[in-house]
Amino acid sequence: MTDLGLMTRKSVASIIAEAGEHTLGKTLGALSITALGIGCIIGAGIFVLTGTAAAHYAGPAIMLSFVVGGIACAFVGLCYAELAALLPVSGSTYTYTYATLGELFAWVIGWDLILEYAMGASTVAVGWSGYIVSLLHNFGINIPPQYAAAPWTEAKLADGSTVEGIVNLPAAFIVLALTAMLIGGTKESARLNNIMVGIKLAVVLAFILFGVGYVTPANWHPFIPDNTGTFGQFGWTGVMRGASVVFFAFIGFDAVSTAAQEAKHPQTDMPIGILGSLLICTILYVAVAGVLTGLVPYTELGVADPIAKGVDVIGQTWFSVLIKIGALSGLTTVILVLLYGQSRIFFQIAKDGLLPRLFSDVHPSLGTPWKSQLLIGIVVAVVAALTPIDILGEMVSIGTLFAFVLVCGAVIYLRKSDAEIARPFRTPGVPVVPVLGMAFSILLMVFLPWETWLRLIVWLVIGLALYFVYGRRHSVLLHGAPPR
Ligand code: ALA
Repeated sequence: MTDLGLMTRKSVASIIAEAGEHTLGKTLGALSITALGIGCIIGAGIFVLTGTAAAHYAGPAIMLSFVVGGIACAFVGLCYAELAALLPVSGSTYTYTYATLGELFAWVIGWDLILEYAMGASTVAVGWSGYIVSLLHNFGINIPPQYAAAPWTEAKLADGSTVEGIVNLPAAFIVLALTAMLIGGTKESARLNNIMVGIKLAVVLAFILFGVGYVTPANWHPFIPDNTGTFGQFGWTGVMRGASVVFFAFIGFDAVSTAAQEAKHPQTDMPIGILGSLLICTILYVAVAGVLTGLVPYTELGVADPIAKGVDVIGQTWFSVLIKIGALSGLTTVILVLLYGQSRIFFQIAKDGLLPRLFSDVHPSLGTPWKSQLLIGIVVAVVAALTPIDILGEMVSIGTLFAFVLVCGAVIYLRKSDAEIARPFRTPGVPVVPVLGMAFSILLMVFLPWETWLRLIVWLVIGLALYFVYGRRHSVLLHGAPPR
């Protein structure tokens, strides 16, 4: 292949040196890392998409879908841990790819990560909207349904009839409110985050423990409803499609890997933290899915607030209110982490010259990348206001799975290209574990609808065009840093 500079890669040593400029304290033990993981994992996946996926694809067997998703993430998680400990800098997958496959691929993956982070935030915001409307309804405040739903989706009126959605205003509102908070500073956001993580866990546990007593076992039959004749609609293909959709529920464990440099004993704490949080979340998810499909027939779960619908069967209004508050807390923390993560990835990409400098400008007194955060907030809010949650969720899943394939590949590649560099954590069973991680990720991608693939391809083509129009001409690696 002619060398056009596209495969130019940053050396691992230079990335490690960059990271060394801001050394963080080694304060995190396995328990804190596990807690961190659970904090950024549990969100719209369990509170919203479980219902959608059970109603449209898997029925009660959505429990199995969660098991498949959890296993896939475990293999990928082990790969993330190695890279995070080796290249502890912001930008995550983008940075790993820069060191392995070079600039062009790094840009593609950075562009792809917008699907995980920015679109992920939009997805969770739509979930938030469903629960706030439901909670306000408990207090006698009724938001007109057409103003809490995207165009081309159906919104239910109080009398049971449906209208077409116009705009999802609550979803846009929460994104803009959290954006303002992130611009203001990160310390306060972190404290609020910890409190809300506690509330969310308590509520998930309460739903399982309290709900299990009200389950009607007949709702679990048939466990795997017969396939309708269409690929992915119930039957075993439905279980797999369900797994690709609820895979969204596991996203966030990759963010745990960014804490690798702060781990006291990375070699043991990282795998315990990543696998521990994944295991706990998988158990909680299977339990929630089991109780939910036992409380409500799966055909009725395709609503904006399925867990609340489950609680309604229990018939205690106070409990229903509590669950909704907990769900809202949980969803808020995930939006916060995703919006934050997106701005930090753009920060790194802009420092490499592939995005305009406004994305790496830091506010002189607030110390936050405010211009970037604001721009992200506006775009995420508009997308959340106008797009249905299932389309968003599937885009996030396919984008993230694509990134996972590259992460697993990067582990194998770097073991050869940079064999001598000390690795604080080594993925066990290389190359089997990374290959299994890739295989599972590709398998889950295959089960997503073809429209989702088409959207991914269009998205990547736009990204490539941007690289050749802008990024390549401004690349710091290719042309050096421009004068300020
Ligand atoms: N895993 C996160 C959620 O389910 C993204 O909201």
